[in-house]
Amino acid sequence: MRLHRTRQSSSVPPPRSVRTPRRARRITLPRLLGSLLLVTAAGAAAGSGPAAAAPAPRPLGQVVPAPVEAKPGGSPYAITAGTRIRVESESREARRIADQLAGVLRPSTGYALPVTGRGSDGIRLRLDPHDDASGAEGYTLRSNPGSVTITAREPAGLFHGVQTLRQLFPARVERNSRQEGPWTVAGGTVRDAPRYAYRGAMLDVSRHFFSVAEVKRYIDQLALYKLNKLHLHLSDDQGWRIAIDSWPRLATYGGRTEVGGGPGGYYTKADYREIVRYAASRYLEVVPEIDLPGHTNAALASYAELNCDGVAPPLYTGTNVGFSSLCVPKAVTYDFVDDVIRELAALTPGTYLHIGGDEAHSTAHDDYVAFMNKAQAVVGRYGKTVIGWHQLTGATPVGGTVAQYWGYDRTGADERKQVADATARGTKLVLSPADRGYLDMKYDKDTELGLSWAGYVSVRRSYDWDPAAYLDGARPGSVLGVEAPLWSETLTNSAEIEQMAFPRLPGIAELGWSPASTHDWDAYKARLGAQGPRLSALGIDYYRAPEVPWAAE
Ligand code: ACM
Repeated sequence: MRLHRTRQSSSVPPPRSVRTPRRARRITLPRLLGSLLLVTAAGAAAGSGPAAAAPAPRPLGQVVPAPVEAKPGGSPYAITAGTRIRVESESREARRIADQLAGVLRPSTGYALPVTGRGSDGIRLRLDPHDDASGAEGYTLRSNPGSVTITAREPAGLFHGVQTLRQLFPARVERNSRQEGPWTVAGGTVRDAPRYAYRGAMLDVSRHFFSVAEVKRYIDQLALYKLNKLHLHLSDDQGWRIAIDSWPRLATYGGRTEVGGGPGGYYTKADYREIVRYAASRYLEVVPEIDLPGHTNAALASYAELNCDGVAPPLYTGTNVGFSSLCVPKAVTYDFVDDVIRELAALTPGTYLHIGGDEAHSTAHDDYVAFMNKAQAVVGRYGKTVIGWHQLTGATPVGGTVAQYWGYDRTGADERKQVADATARGTKLVLSPADRGYLDMKYDKDTELGLSWAGYVSVRRSYDWDPAAYLDGARPGSVLGVEAPLWSETLTNSAEIEQMAFPRLPGIAELGWSPASTHDWDAYKARLGAQGPRLSALGIDYYRAPEVPWAAE
C-alpha cells in the first residue's frame, strides 16, 4: 500500500463578480413544443438596451440523478422579486425544507422570497398523504408560468424534489453572492422516485479524522444527489473516533493520532448527535461502523486486557491492513463489544449498525465465525439491523443481515458465490465494488491522491454497471442498493475528499436512484458535464475528467 502523501489543496475559484440583478421582464413566451425558448428584456426596467435573448431554461430531465419521467409542456416559470415560497401543509418538516430552499435562493437571486402559507402562486411545497405513487421518497414537480409545485407523500420526497428544483435553475443559483437572472424553470412535469432504498456514501474518519464541519459539508454534497445513507467508518487500526463512556481511553488515547502521525481526534457524543441531527435534516441516515474483529489496533492499544497476551501494542500511523485482531476466546472481549454496541446503538436513530468484518487476516477462521456470530447477536439485542463487509457471509448471517460487497473483477469465483448463495438465505446486499464504487481509487496513473490496488477507476467505469446484474447468482430483489466508500489513507481535508468524490459520486448516486431504463453513458456524461459550473458555484474543485464534456464555467 502507498504511504500517506499530503497535497497542496487547490484553491477554489472566487465567485463571479457581484452584480446588481436587473429585473428580468418576460416579453414573449413562445410555446414551442417541448423546446422552450425564453426571451427576456433584461434591463428593460432600467430602460437600457434592446431586448436580449436569454438562454432557454434547462430541459426538465437534465438533472443528476436522472428522474423517472420528465415531460416538458407549457411555458416556463420564473422567480421574481415578488415570489413567495409557500408551505401547503402544517408540517414543520415541510416548513424547514422551505427555509432550506430559501437559504439557497436568497443570496444568489437577491430576492426576499418570504416563506408563507397556502396560495396558488410561487414555489409551492405540498404534502399529500394520499400520494401513494410518490412512495417514501418520491415527488412530482409541476412547473407553469404561475407556479412550481412539488408534491410528495413524505417530507423526504419534498426534500428530493427541492434538490431537483435547485438543479433546474442556472448553476449560479448556488453562489453565495447576488447573481444576474433570469431564474427560470422550464414548463412541464417531473415524476420521480428512487430505484433503490439504500443509496449511501461512506467516509473513513479513522485513517484521517475529519471535523464535524467537514462531515457536514460532505452531507450537503450527498444530499444534492439524493443519497440517503452516510456510513461513518468510526474505528480502524489508526484511530478510534467516537467517545464510548464505559471505555473512555478508546477515544482519548486511541483517537490521538492518524495515518502519517497527525493529531487525529474523535467525536464527543454531542458532536456525533449533531452529525446525526444534521444528516437527518437532509434526509440522510447515519450508519455507524465499528470494524471488528480486525482493524482494531486503536482499541487494542487503548486497553491491554483486550489483547490475548495482555500487552497493548503501540498506536499505529501506517497504512498496512490485516495485522490486528480482538482476542476471540477472552470473555472481556464480549464485555467490550456489548458496551460499545449498546452505546453506539443509543446514539443511532437509524436502522443499521455496521460491524465491519473485513480483512480479519489475523483471526483464525473458526474464531472469526464464532466472533461474528456473537457480535451479530449483540447488534440484534440493541434493536439494530446488522451490516457487515461481505466476508460476514463466511460466518452465519442472521436473517435480514446486510452484506456490503466490496469485491472487484479479480475477486475469486468462490468468494462471489459465497455472497450470492447467502442471498438465497435472506441476506441483503449493498454493492460497493472496489473497482467501480471506491471513490479513493485513482482515476488514472496521473492522479495524485488515492490508491490503486483495485485498479484505476475512471468516471465511466464508476458509472457504467448495473447493480441488479452485478453479482451472478444473487437472488433477484436481494440488492438493497449501492454505496460509494471513500477511504482516507491519502486524504486529509475537504478539498481532497472532493477531488476524489467529484465527479464519481454523482454517478453512484444515479445508479442508486435512477431507473435502469435511463442508464446510458453518452446521455449521462452530457448531464454530468452540465454539473461542472454547479459544482464550481458550490466551491467544489472537482476533477476535470477528460472523458466528460464539461460545460463552460
Ligand atoms: C475494505 O475495503 N477493506 C472493506
